[in-house]
Amino acid sequence: MSLRIAVIVGSLRKGAFSRAIALALKELAPPQLELNIIETGDLPLYNPDLDEATPLAPWQRFREEVAQMDAVLFVTPEYNRSVPASLKNALDVGSRPYGHSVWSKKPCAIVSVSPGGMGGFGANHHLRQSLVFLDMPVMQQPEAYIGHVNDALDAEGKVKQDNMRSFLKTIIDSFADWTERTRPQ
Ligand code: FNR
Repeated sequence: MSLRIAVIVGSLRKGAFSRAIALALKELAPPQLELNIIETGDLPLYNPDLDEATPLAPWQRFREEVAQMDAVLFVTPEYNRSVPASLKNALDVGSRPYGHSVWSKKPCAIVSVSPGGMGGFGANHHLRQSLVFLDMPVMQQPEAYIGHVNDALDAEGKVKQDNMRSFLKTIIDSFADWTERTRPQ
């Protein structure tokens, strides 16, 4: 059984550590998972006034791409102890129009990253708060707060530490299991 996973990266930066970790997770994923990064950088800030008869094309594109997926993997840095605005905006866009959220019931997991020592704990848990409201079963364990992420990557953004590779493998294998157990049948 193939499971399609939407990967939402919380950074818009070209050389983002979070994107590098997302790509490493894609490489390490077991064969039944197909990871697809869904871009968020072109989404205008959500405004319900612009979401009436004809929604903006980037919002429509984003909603359609997420809707086709079985589950969602968030890989994000922390901005000011919370979620980057682009990620929160993507959540808001996908959650509307009211009653038509593309997030509802999709299993999900969060991997937070930081060059600092706390591994994006604040972003990880603020994101969890929104995901509870969005009715997404969030993987509880193992938790993934990746501190000193820059030390784990080489100049090309590839994982250079064996212990990090094996941690990421544990995360993505656990997420495959979580998705199989909790996705709507
Ligand atoms: C940061 N950074 C940061 N790091 C952290 O651990 N906790 C924080 O609260 C913040 N706050 C913050 C705010 C803003 C506006 C920026 C631009 C950055 C640093 C951040 O972790 C670092 O820039 C990472 O490299 C961002 O992740 P990507 O873009 O490499 O994925």
